[in-house]
Amino acid sequence: MCGIVGYAGPRDCSEVLVSTLTNLEYRGYDSAGIAVFDEKNIIETVKSEGKLSNLKNKLETLGKPEGHIGIGHTRWATHGEPSDVNSHPHSAPRVTIVHNGIIENYQELKEFLTGKGKTFISETDTEVVAQLLDYYYDGDPITTIDKVMGEVTGSFALGIMFAEFPDRIYAVRRESPLIVGVADGESFIASDVTAILQYTKNYYLLEHDEIATLTRDSVSFVDKYLNPIEKELKVADWDREAAQKAGYPHFMIKEINEQPTAISTTVNPRIRGGLPNLDECGLTLDILKDLKSITVVACGTAMHAGMVGKYVIEDIARVPVNVDIASEFRYRNPIIGEGDLVIIISQSGETADSLAALRLSKQRGAKVLAIVNAKGSSIAREADMVIYTLAGPEIAVASTKAYITQISVMYLFAFELALAKGTVSTAECKRLTSALQKMPEAVKYVIESVDEICQYVGSKLITADSLLYIGRGLDYALSMEGSLKLKEVSYIHSESYAAGELKHGTISLIDDEMPVIAVATQSDLIEKTISNVVEVKSRGAKVILVCTDSCANKIKDGIADYKIIIPHIDELLMPITAVLPLQILAYYTSVNRGNNPDQPRNLAKSVTVE
Ligand code: G6P
Repeated sequence: MCGIVGYAGPRDCSEVLVSTLTNLEYRGYDSAGIAVFDEKNIIETVKSEGKLSNLKNKLETLGKPEGHIGIGHTRWATHGEPSDVNSHPHSAPRVTIVHNGIIENYQELKEFLTGKGKTFISETDTEVVAQLLDYYYDGDPITTIDKVMGEVTGSFALGIMFAEFPDRIYAVRRESPLIVGVADGESFIASDVTAILQYTKNYYLLEHDEIATLTRDSVSFVDKYLNPIEKELKVADWDREAAQKAGYPHFMIKEINEQPTAISTTVNPRIRGGLPNLDECGLTLDILKDLKSITVVACGTAMHAGMVGKYVIEDIARVPVNVDIASEFRYRNPIIGEGDLVIIISQSGETADSLAALRLSKQRGAKVLAIVNAKGSSIAREADMVIYTLAGPEIAVASTKAYITQISVMYLFAFELALAKGTVSTAECKRLTSALQKMPEAVKYVIESVDEICQYVGSKLITADSLLYIGRGLDYALSMEGSLKLKEVSYIHSESYAAGELKHGTISLIDDEMPVIAVATQSDLIEKTISNVVEVKSRGAKVILVCTDSCANKIKDGIADYKIIIPHIDELLMPITAVLPLQILAYYTSVNRGNNPDQPRNLAKSVTVE
C-alpha cells in the first residue's frame, strides 16, 4: 500500500524523506517521489516510476532539493498505471500533497472541478484532492482542509504543503493510518512508526478527521470541529534494530529465524500456574464457558491462522468455529448477533476488509476479540477485547513470524476455552500448555535442520509452472498457508487441496509437470494421505513429502521423491513446526528464481483499501 512520510527539522530533508521511505518499502509500491521547500521556499518535486533506486538516481542526476521541510511517498497504483506522472506528490498551483487510500467520489469532484476550468495531468484521485484544496483555499490551511474533508468520501490519509506556508506541513486522515513523530527540534509524519524509528520512538496517533500542523519545533492538533486538542504521546516499544536486516540477506529469512523468540514473547506472559490466562483482554473462564459458537474473520495468512484455530478449538473445546474471508463476510449478510464472539485476526490491524467486518459484527451486537500485532492500530482500538501477538515489526510482505504467533494465541485461546467448557481436565490443559511453552526450542531445531533440504528441494522447483499442496485435517489447514507462501514470493501458481477431495476433479491436473507437496503429520490420517500420494505419484507427479520422523517410518521407500522430515511432537501442535519447511521452501524457491522475497510484485503488506 502507499506509504506517506513528511519531515520538518534541521536535517537534509531529501535525505530524511528517502531514508524513511526506504523503511516503508516493505508495504509494497511501484513508484516514489518527494517534494521539498527549497532554499527560496519554492516547492521542488522529484518523482519516478519503479523502485526507490530510480528516485535516488534521479535525485543524484538532477540534484536533490535542498531544504528542511517536505513530504514523500511510495505509491501502490490504484487509479492509473504506475508512471512518473501518476506518482505522488501531486500539485495544484498553491498546494502539494501525498495521499494513501482511495477517494471514492473523485469522479464527481473531477467533473465539478473541470466545470470550473481546472485541468488534470494524471489519472489519479489524488490530483483531484490537490485541485480541490487549491480551489477552496482561503488563506487558512486548516479551514481549507476542513472544507475539503467535508467534500471527499472514502478512506485516506494526506500529507499537505501549502505554497504560502513554507515553514510547515499538514496531515489529516480518515480510516487510513497516519502517525506524527516528534524529536528534539524536528517532527515527522509517517504511515507507520517503523518509518521513523531511526530518528525517534515518540509519536502521536492521528485520529479520524483530526488535522495536525507540524513545524520544526512544534506539532499541534485540532479535532474535526477545529478545536485545539492535546494528544497522548506514545512511545514505540519496537526498536530500530528489530526493523533492520541484522546481517540476513532478506527480512523474510530473518523473520523466519525470529520465530522461536516471537512465540515465547507471545505465549509466556499469558501463562499463570501452568495454565493459559487471557484475563488481560477480559476473556474470563465465565465468559468462555457460555460461548456457543465462534466466527473467525480475517484475510490472507491471518485467515489461515484462523483455519488452524478452527481445527484445534473444535477438536479440544468442542465449540463450532466458522472461518470467514473478511471481504466475503462483510457483504454476505452474515448471521451474527448478540451473544456471538467474532475473532478478527490481523498482523497490521489496518486491513480494510477486516476492519469493516469488525464494525459490522459490533453493529449487530456481537463481541469482537482482536488478535493483532500492531499496537494502537484501528482494529486493536475498535475491538471490544485485544490480545496482542508480540512478534515485533514484521517487514517482509509474506507473513511468517506473525502467523506463528497468531496460531500460538489460537492455541492459548483453545486450551483456555476447553478448560472452561470442561472438555479437558486441568492436568491435560497443563500438559498442553507446557508443550506449547516448549515450542520455541522445537522451532529453532527444525529451522536449522530443514534448511539444507529445503534449499535443495527449492532448487528443483524453480522451473515448475504450477504446484499442488495436499493434506488432511490440521495438515490441510497448514497446506493452505504453505501454498500461499509459495505463490506470494516465487510467483509459481499453486493451490492447496484437502487430500481426500483431490479425486473429485483436481486430480485431472496431475502429470509429470505438476509437483505435489504433501503434508502428513497426523498419525491417524497418515494412511489416508499416503494413499492420495500414491494416486498422484502413479500419474507422474513428483512428490515432496513433509512428514514427522514417526510417520516417515510407516512410509515405503519410493513413495516420495523428496522427504522433509521433522521431529514428531504433540500432534495438535504440529502446525507450529510443520509450517517451517513450507516457509523456508517458499523463501529459497523465491531466491532461486531471482525474486526479492521481501517485496513480491503487486503485493502490499498492509491492505488499507478494499
Ligand atoms: C496482505 C498481506 C498478507 C496478509 C494480509 C492480511 O494481503 O500481503 O501477507 O496476510 O494482507 O493482513 P493483516 O495485516 O490483516 O494480517
